[in-house]
Amino acid sequence: MAVHRILTGITTSGTPHLGNYAGAIRPAIEASRKADAESFYFLADYHALIKTADPERVQRSTLEIAASWLAAGLDTERVWFYRQSDIPEIPELTWLLTCNAGKGLLNRAHAYKAAVDKNVADGEDPDAGINMGLFMYPVLMAADILMFKAHSVPVGRDQIQHIEMARDIAARFNHLYGEHFVLPAAAIDESVATLPGLDGRKMSKSYDNTIPLFASSAVLKKSIAGIVTDSRAPGEPKETEGSALFQLYQAFATPTETAAMRDAFAAGISWGDAKQALFERIERAVAPMRDHYESLIARPALIEQKLQEGAAKARAIATPFLNELRHAVGLRRLDAVSHAGTKTAAKAQALPQFKQYREGDGRFYFKLVSAEGRLLLQSRAFESPKEAGQCIAGLKAGGAVGGDAVAAEGVEQAEIAQALAAFGE
Ligand code: TRP
Repeated sequence: MAVHRILTGITTSGTPHLGNYAGAIRPAIEASRKADAESFYFLADYHALIKTADPERVQRSTLEIAASWLAAGLDTERVWFYRQSDIPEIPELTWLLTCNAGKGLLNRAHAYKAAVDKNVADGEDPDAGINMGLFMYPVLMAADILMFKAHSVPVGRDQIQHIEMARDIAARFNHLYGEHFVLPAAAIDESVATLPGLDGRKMSKSYDNTIPLFASSAVLKKSIAGIVTDSRAPGEPKETEGSALFQLYQAFATPTETAAMRDAFAAGISWGDAKQALFERIERAVAPMRDHYESLIARPALIEQKLQEGAAKARAIATPFLNELRHAVGLRRLDAVSHAGTKTAAKAQALPQFKQYREGDGRFYFKLVSAEGRLLLQSRAFESPKEAGQCIAGLKAGGAVGGDAVAAEGVEQAEIAQALAAFGE
């Protein structure tokens, strides 16, 4: 059976809420139980430093998030569960990747761009208050993923771009130094709940609309009482569509329970009763884990030990792999023998290619495709195959692209230049 490597990180800058549980923790633990899965789940505390300068908060959040995963049933014998900052190979790999990450690529990262756009809209300097951590965020994340050769990375939609960047960076590295990295893919599971928060928008720390996962049952009850509903009176039928309360219920209930609640909505259950039912359902799911969570939080040394064990297990992979990568890029002992031909061999199997073809309009075209099969450059129409061929020859010989071809969408000039350079070697 082919092993499938799953990897995901959780930034340690807050207290886990019900949305984190239903959207990430619960499905990840389920996935980790599959026979063909190798799961890597880690606490992204280096990433937390980008968001907060509060040391107590980082430490506390790390403790709470680790305890949440353990309380929810993560089997640390089966998975790799570790803290990012316990793996010094990750920042080292970040540097190797930094040297293969286009600045233009990072300029386009949504989170950085949003911060710049906001500054501009506010009439500030574009980079006001932006640290390099935010700018480099996708490269650190690429190192997290590529270090462990993950195939799939379960993330929220807001993270898809980061996975694509990890692929781009990995592909460029592989092209230059040989096939060291697995190209990861984002895994978006449609069946996994994105929970609404108290106000109906996505439950998120940034909207301040969360329900904590392991608050006391009194706090849970009080939070649920604060869920926004419409003004329909008891006895009036209620809409399940668009109801945050209903969606929260569904995320914790069986299909049968959900169907019963749907009927109750149609029959005009009062909002008070519906909230009571929601509280009882969530309480039933959370209470046993909560006891476990509290006993864990009270014993931080035990969690610390689990994380140390996880780090040792992760470094058993990371240390030799980083040695391989250091060798590949030329960071070598001076008496080490070069793996002769490594680079040439890698190039032979991974060269960009020009492809010539004729369109329905009877004219001739070519395109340049990267070693990984991505369209880089698309030519104009030529009247004869010879003309197209001459143009290709010119490009291979180092000529300028000029008006004969245009970059494909999202492809940087630097990437094209690099692909073309491969022909000159
Ligand atoms: N950026 C992710 C988030 O905020 C957390 C994260 C860090 C991550 N490194 C990762 C997720 C690697 C997946 C893979 O949600």
